[in-house]
Amino acid sequence: MADLSIDFCGIKSPNPFWLASAPPTDKAYNVVRAFEAGWGGVVWKTLGEDPPAVNVSSRYSAHYGKNREVIGFNNIELITDRSLEINLREITAVKKAWPDRAMIVSLMLPCEEAPWAAILPLVEATGADGIELNFGCPHGMPERGMGAAVGQVPEYVQMVTAWCKKHTRLPVIVKLTPNITDVRAPARAALAGGADAVSLINTVNSITHLDLDRMVAFPAVGNASTHGGYCGSAVKPIALNMVAEIARDPVTAGLPISGIGGIGNWRDAAEFIALGAGSVQVCTAAMLHGFRIVEEMKDGLARWMDEKGYADIAAFSRKAVPNTTDWKYLDMNFQTIAHIDQDKCIGCGKCFVACEDTSHQAIAQRIMENGARRYEVIRDECVGCNLCEITCPVEACIAMVPQETGKPYMNWTQDPRNPRAESRADAAVGQTTAVIEPA
Ligand SMILES: Cc1cc2nc3c(=O)[nH]c(=O)nc-3n(C[C@H](O)[C@H](O)[C@H](O)COP(=O)(O)O)c2cc1C
Ligand code: SF4
Ligand code: SF4
Repeated sequence: MADLSIDFCGIKSPNPFWLASAPPTDKAYNVVRAFEAGWGGVVWKTLGEDPPAVNVSSRYSAHYGKNREVIGFNNIELITDRSLEINLREITAVKKAWPDRAMIVSLMLPCEEAPWAAILPLVEATGADGIELNFGCPHGMPERGMGAAVGQVPEYVQMVTAWCKKHTRLPVIVKLTPNITDVRAPARAALAGGADAVSLINTVNSITHLDLDRMVAFPAVGNASTHGGYCGSAVKPIALNMVAEIARDPVTAGLPISGIGGIGNWRDAAEFIALGAGSVQVCTAAMLHGFRIVEEMKDGLARWMDEKGYADIAAFSRKAVPNTTDWKYLDMNFQTIAHIDQDKCIGCGKCFVACEDTSHQAIAQRIMENGARRYEVIRDECVGCNLCEITCPVEACIAMVPQETGKPYMNWTQDPRNPRAESRADAAVGQTTAVIEPA
């Protein structure tokens, strides 16, 4: 059976599945049951200075799919609303009882050195394995100069990270906000400040929907609302891209990454790991389905690894990174064409409408003698955009089939149709990333 254990910048964990800093990790009662269920580690709900934060009622809202499944989750909750003393006492007790699990403590303090210098020895004394700096909370705390207010300014990220490295021996994980133009800038700043790792993403600024009778957004606090932080499966593509951006940036390429955002099953986790994550963190899926989802995650990942011959997590970690490149290095000579499996087709016509109205008019609709409709791809017109395959309600009914063109690899920098042809040197670089100036 595949070995799921990890060593993440010196933090050992029996599996890569950690609960993210949030309600599932805000007290010993929850964390103990999470460990009983099999989670490899937790990032304790963010601690701050006393007096503790005060929360409003209500706090959550959701973006729903057609069958009321939650696609995205939104919250306006702050950091822990319990005292520092209670949290530290519980962390100490839980770590003592569960020494093999990863215990990371999330922290958020004002942008001054003294409070960090004061709290770090207290956290160290709990026996915790590491700290995570919450530079991402997008609501409430930025108004007080914390959370995303720090994470959006690379200079602050570097400065606070350096203070933490100065005042603790514990590994320092910097949690990044996605509410920024280029996530590589704060990641580079974290590295420059001495961070042992980064974690991402925290939540995305959001308003999910409105009560149009009352003209107020959800979650409503009386007659008003505010933007919250978006998470859950809807943010997974944003998070995956940001993880990949950091993993393939030459400056941060070796920096350990804890992947967060929309992870709900083993496959999501495998994707994050393949794109650069060394551990993964889960919040919304646990809030919606409970701690036991980790069983499927562990079993599924181990089975898939066995099937693929990956003995441990390191065997496939970052394997998809070299295949993630800039657009200009994609092969202009690659060609794929849609193919409809007539045995599977139910004749709904969705592919036809999609291609006819918004793509390349490459699907023909034929009415047969018996009145049945038949859909066929016009090969010469198909540009291989994937739209029909995406709209088709029948799984594996439309396949995108790579064509044998006989043409060699040629990227845009080498393409004679490129009016701003780039240098040959650039073309030779092939699969590399664009470079931004270090923060
Ligand atoms: C209700 C709620 C409270 C959260 N509180 C914190 C927090 O205190 N500290 C923190 O770093 N992240 C907090 N987060 C963000 C999560 O840790 C995580 O980064 C985010 O939800 C994305 O992961 P997910 O898609 O698995 O939920 C919170 C998220 C939710 C939904
Ligand atoms: S791949 Fe795009 S162009 Fe080709 S048939 Fe499908 S929708 Fe039309
Ligand atoms: S969308 Fe799929 S099932 Fe519907 S007509 Fe097209 S190929 Fe057939």
